[in-house]
Amino acid sequence: MTKIPEETIEEIRSKTDIVDLVGEYVQLTKRGRNWFGLCPFHGENTPSFSVSEEKQIFHCFGCGAGGNAITFIMDIENSPFTEAISKLAGRAGIELDVSFSETSSSGRSNEHQHMIEAHTLAANFYSHLLLNTVEGEKALQYLEQRGFSREHIEKYGIGWSLDDREVLTQLLERKKFDMKEMELAGLCIMKNDGTGYFDRFRGRIMFPLHDDNGNVVAFSGRTLSNSKEEAKYLNSPETPIFEKSRLLYNFHNARLNVRKTGKVILFEGFMDTIAAERAGIMNSVAVMGTSLSDTHLTKMKRIANQLIICCDGDKAGWDAAKRFAVLSKQKGMDAKIALLPGKMDPDEYITTFGGESFAEKVIGNPHSYMSFIMAYYKRSKNLSHENDVLQYIHEVMEELAQKISPVERDLMIRQLTAETGVSPNALNEQLMKKVGKHAKQQKVMQPEGGQAIPMAVSTRKVSGIERAERLLLCHLLNDGNLFDRIRDDHEELFFREEYAAIFIRLAGFYEKHGMPDFHRFAESLEDRELRKVVMDAAMLERDPDFAEQEIEDCIHHLKRQRINRRIEEMMHESKEAEKMNDHTRALELAREIIQLRKSLSAM
Ligand code: CTP
Ligand code: MN
Repeated sequence: MTKIPEETIEEIRSKTDIVDLVGEYVQLTKRGRNWFGLCPFHGENTPSFSVSEEKQIFHCFGCGAGGNAITFIMDIENSPFTEAISKLAGRAGIELDVSFSETSSSGRSNEHQHMIEAHTLAANFYSHLLLNTVEGEKALQYLEQRGFSREHIEKYGIGWSLDDREVLTQLLERKKFDMKEMELAGLCIMKNDGTGYFDRFRGRIMFPLHDDNGNVVAFSGRTLSNSKEEAKYLNSPETPIFEKSRLLYNFHNARLNVRKTGKVILFEGFMDTIAAERAGIMNSVAVMGTSLSDTHLTKMKRIANQLIICCDGDKAGWDAAKRFAVLSKQKGMDAKIALLPGKMDPDEYITTFGGESFAEKVIGNPHSYMSFIMAYYKRSKNLSHENDVLQYIHEVMEELAQKISPVERDLMIRQLTAETGVSPNALNEQLMKKVGKHAKQQKVMQPEGGQAIPMAVSTRKVSGIERAERLLLCHLLNDGNLFDRIRDDHEELFFREEYAAIFIRLAGFYEKHGMPDFHRFAESLEDRELRKVVMDAAMLERDPDFAEQEIEDCIHHLKRQRINRRIEEMMHESKEAEKMNDHTRALELAREIIQLRKSLSAM
C-alpha cells in the first residue's frame, strides 16, 4: 500500500474539529472550557467523557479511553488507520492520492465513489418523481394510506421509479457515468442483444439503503400491485458497495439513539423500522433479507448492551426470532424477544393498535431467552396430548439445560410443572440426566488442570508499578533522547505486557521518525488497548523541570520491583526443591536470594 504523506495527515488533522466529529456520535454539552457527554465506549449514566477543543483530544475518566480525532474514529468504527484517514479526508473534503485510496483495504476507490454518487443521484431522482410528479401520485397515495407522513418519506429518502425502461439509464449516461460500472453497481442491466442498458427498478416504490456513513449504496423497491406473480420486494444485487451481510437498515440513523439507550431493536423488515418511528422508537434497525450475520451482531454489540428482537407473528417470524436469539446468545449478547399477537407484523400492529401500545406492550415487555424458547416449543403443541407433553419437555430441556443459570432452571421447572402437570421431582431428575450427559462430554474435551497461577506480588505493589510505568512511558513518549539513553540498558524495564509491547513499538517509531509525536505513535498502533495505554500515559501531567528526577525514581522503583519478584520466585522454587529433597538446589537458591537481598539494600 502506498504510504499516506505526512502533510496529508496533518492537513486532515487541522481541518477536523474533534468537538464536531465526536458530536456526530455523542451528545455533548459545554461546561467551562470542555465538552461533556456519556462515554460511547462504556455504558454509563453520568457523563465522564470529555472533549477538549483546545487540545483536540477526548478522554473518559470512567474507562480510561482517550485519544485524538483519528484514534477516535479508529476506536469507534473499529477501523484501521488508513480507513480512519480516508473517512476523515472525505469528511473534510480533502482528496486522497488515488494510488493510496485504490489500494487501501477500506477502498474508497474511485469505483466505489462513482457508485455512491450514482446511487445518490438516483435516490434524488426517485424522490423527486414521487413527491413532485403526476406519475408519482399513486405511490404517494399508497404511502399515505399506510401511515407514512411527508416528514418520514423525506427522512428515509423514499421515492418512485417510473414504469419506463430507460429513464435512469439515460440520466446516468447524460451525467457521464461509466455504464459498465453502473451495471456492476446494480442500477442498470445489459439488454439481451448487448446494444445498451435498461433500468433495474421500474414502477416500484424505492427505499434507499444506506451504509454506516449514510451513503446510499443500494435500493429495495416495493411493487404497488398485489399480484402474486411479481416479487413484492426487489433488492439491489450484491455489489462492491452493498453486502447484505454487512448492511443493517437504518443503522446510521439509529446509532446515536442506540448508544444513548444501550438498546437496539432488530426487525425483520425495514417497513417495520419506519413504522416504529411512529411509536417513538428511534433505535431500531432491520436486516435485509432474513439472515442475521456475525458482522451484523458485531456491529450492534459494539454500541448496545441489549438486543430486542421483534419478528413477525407468523411461523416464519417465530423461526427467524429463534434463529436470531440463538445467534445473539452465542455472541454473548443480552437478547430479549418481543412477541406479537396472532400473525401480525410490527407495522400492522402499530397501524391497528397505535404506537403507544406497541412501545409499551410489545417492545416494553419482551420475553427473556428462556421464556421465549418455552413459548416457541409450546406453540406447535397440544399439551393435553401425552406425546406432545413428552416432546415439549424434551425440546425445552435440550435447548436450555446448558444455557441457563440455576435460578432460571428452577423457574423453568416450575413453569413446566404448571403447564404439563409433571412433578418437579421427575423434571429435575430428567434435567440432571441432561446436564450430566453434557458435562461428561465437556470433561473429555477439556482436561482439568491449567489453573491460573496466583500472582506472586500483592496488589499494592502492582499499583506502585502501574504508576511508575505510566509516568515513565509518559516521559518516553515525549523525549526521544531519553528513550535512546535507556533503551539498551533497560530492555526488561516494563512489567505489564502492554507496556513491554509499547516499548518495542516505540523503538521502531523513533527509528523511523526520529522525533517524539505521541499522536502519530498512537495512530500507528493497531491494537485499541495499546492506543488506550499510550493516550492515557501521554495525558499525564509531567513537569519537564523535574524530568530527570522523576525518570530516575521510576526506573529505580521498577528495578527494585523486578528484583523483589525474582526473589519471590526463587523462594517458591526453593520450597519446591526441599519438598523433592533436593537440598543442594535449595541451598543454591538460598545463596542467590541472599545476594539479591544485598543488592536491594545497596540500591
Ligand atoms: N423481502 C424480500 N423480498 C420479498 C419479500 C420480502 O426481500 N419478495 C424482505 C424485505 O426486506 C422485507 C422483509 O423481507 O422487508 C420482510 O418481508 P415481509 O414481512 O413480507 O414484508 P413487510 O415488511 O411486511 O412488507 P409489507 O408490509 O410492505 O407487505
Ligand atoms: Mn408488513
